[in-house]
Amino acid sequence: MDEFTGGDVYQKEFNPQAYLEYFKFGSHTLGDESITYYLECLCQTFASGSLRGDTLIDIGSGPTIYQLMSACESFETIIASDYLDQNVQEIEKWRKNEPGAFDWSPVGIYVCELEGKRTKWPEKEAKLRRAIQRVLKCDVNLQNPMAPLHLPPADCVLSTECLEAACKDQASYRAALSNISSLLKPGGHLVLCGVLETTFYMVGTWKFSSLFLTEEFLKEALPASGFNIVQFKTKSRVDKGMLDLCDLTEFYFIVAQKGTEA
Ligand SMILES: C[S@@+](CC[C@H](N)C(=O)[O-])C[C@H]1O[C@@H](n2cnc3c(N)ncnc32)[C@H](O)[C@@H]1O
Repeated sequence: MDEFTGGDVYQKEFNPQAYLEYFKFGSHTLGDESITYYLECLCQTFASGSLRGDTLIDIGSGPTIYQLMSACESFETIIASDYLDQNVQEIEKWRKNEPGAFDWSPVGIYVCELEGKRTKWPEKEAKLRRAIQRVLKCDVNLQNPMAPLHLPPADCVLSTECLEAACKDQASYRAALSNISSLLKPGGHLVLCGVLETTFYMVGTWKFSSLFLTEEFLKEALPASGFNIVQFKTKSRVDKGMLDLCDLTEFYFIVAQKGTEA
């Protein structure tokens, strides 16, 4: 796919309900494969206690909260964010336990199992609802992605499958890395997960572009933006049966630390 789907297309065409079809755990093989991989990596990083602090900012949260389920064990305050009002509203609906909110229990129960059932899902659900203190609008293409707000620098910035959706080329990806780095304390951590060698993904009947990323590019762009790579993992796609939904070949999971000079 050649044409970049920018902010205007997202505003009009990104349907949170259609996107959430990928997260009906147990009924979507491609969705299951991606989230089980991300959840395992996030559990190892956050639930183990190797990465902790006061505040975590999740950038480009979409309408989803799966990515925050282990993080809430290590960070007291979580700020979720997205470019789209409809995604902010979807997370708010879940946070306030309003009618029609997405049911995250199958995913939540899986995360509690991964974490060794120290916590049961209803407890974790309540903890996560308390931890997500704000759901803000953001744009990774702005120097201050939270403008007009100025947030105190966070201990951790997390972003799952967002930058490849939001950036139209390698130059804007590099700029977005610097932009989100401005939200982090020196020495703070960036946790990134997403897809490699991907050109599109479907949300309902709408096709969204994805910036074609390679491991080589990421290993060069992160240090160039002032990050030291602490962990870089990939996993090849196993299920090749849904290539019409997304042409990804590999998943990646990265932990990087912002240099103290940056
Ligand atoms: C593939 S979804 C990922 C959502 C979620 N993080 C997840 O893991 O499922 C891509 C997200 O990027 C958001 N996005 C697109 N352009 C953006 C921008 N310029 N700044 C911030 N987020 C953006 C979209 O609204 C969408 O929620």
